[in-house]
Amino acid sequence: MRALITGGAGFIGANFVHRARATRPDWQITVVDALTYAGNVDNLAPVADDITFVHGNLADADLVDSLVADADVVVHFAAESHNDNSLDDPWPFVESNLIGTFRVLEAVRRHGVRLHHISTDEVYGDLALDDPERFTESTPVNPSSPYSSTKAGADLLVRAWVRSFGIEATLSNCSNNYGPYQHVEKLIPRQITGIIDGVKPKLYGTGENVRDWIHVDDHNDAVITIVERGRPGETYLIGADGERSNREIIALLLDLMDKPADWFEHVNDRPGHDLRYAIDSSKLRTETGWEPRYHDIRAGLAATIAWYREHEDWWRAAKGDTEARYARLGR
Ligand code: NAD
Ligand code: TYD
Repeated sequence: MRALITGGAGFIGANFVHRARATRPDWQITVVDALTYAGNVDNLAPVADDITFVHGNLADADLVDSLVADADVVVHFAAESHNDNSLDDPWPFVESNLIGTFRVLEAVRRHGVRLHHISTDEVYGDLALDDPERFTESTPVNPSSPYSSTKAGADLLVRAWVRSFGIEATLSNCSNNYGPYQHVEKLIPRQITGIIDGVKPKLYGTGENVRDWIHVDDHNDAVITIVERGRPGETYLIGADGERSNREIIALLLDLMDKPADWFEHVNDRPGHDLRYAIDSSKLRTETGWEPRYHDIRAGLAATIAWYREHEDWWRAAKGDTEARYARLGR
């Protein structure tokens, strides 16, 4: 199978390429990536000889058309992905997440190519801390930030192209991922690399906000499962029952990195900060048999800390700019 992976030099996309190489050696993989600040071609170094890498932007309709024409399936990860950046400068989010997805949709429509669209649980807005309900595939979209609204818009475009133009597409909305190759702007790598540098973890607001954590390999195994066995036109929620407050995540990191439990500081909250995300992934589990393999978040975080300790050369270059951006935002 010829698979075109958009955004394959980013965090989840690169892990996907590694996972697909390991578990689906017969796939011929092409990655297209604009190498924004979040994309790093070194993420693909271990598989560089086994894949084709194309440096290009999804805004380039001709490029997208020619790559899609040579594919049997497109797995569409490429997006601007960070909420804080979207609050600072929304335009790149509109361009990559909406216009980029539009380009992909028009190309798969023209060439009759199967699409799997990657999205986030953040399109559903947030839940109260004590709400017994979790997000399901029928939860109405209700996004809060420019990031989540452009992802919701992209999801709606995909659904419209399925219904009106009959493209063969599946969608998945996953919860917060952790693991290797995640940019140092995101919660977990920011604090791990900060602690390595002797800087206290920074908790937005009260820190009571809850995210539903999943290891990136579990996410990607679910995506491979949906590519192979998902029903056309369907949306699948991906989650691993990993709800933790930000305070709990920081407490785990401090404990695993031998720092006192109170060695953190509160910083300005994010405007519009979603309170809680929680995923009910029963549909995916029942229909496909997929189950997460990483049940112990403490062990998963310990492995992630070890990876960042061993790959300082990978993250060091981005750390200064990232912290300068946060300093401007007071976070
Ligand atoms: P990331 O920011 O680490 O990587 C995004 C990649 O896309 C980068 O390599 C970047 O260069 C590329 N890209 C961006 N705009 C592009 C464009 N216009 N043309 C070509 N390439 C472009 O993001 P990530 O965390 O790996 O997220 C990947 C996908 O998964 C996104 O669609 C995101 O919405 C979704 N998602 C992320 C999470 C999470 O926890 N990180 C959870 C659920 C869903
Ligand atoms: P983040 O990794 O940005 O993911 P998302 O906004 O997509 O959920 O943030 C995860 C949570 O951690 C979110 O509630 C914001 C919070 N947060 C902090 O408390 N401190 C930080 O330094 C960062 C980056 C995030």
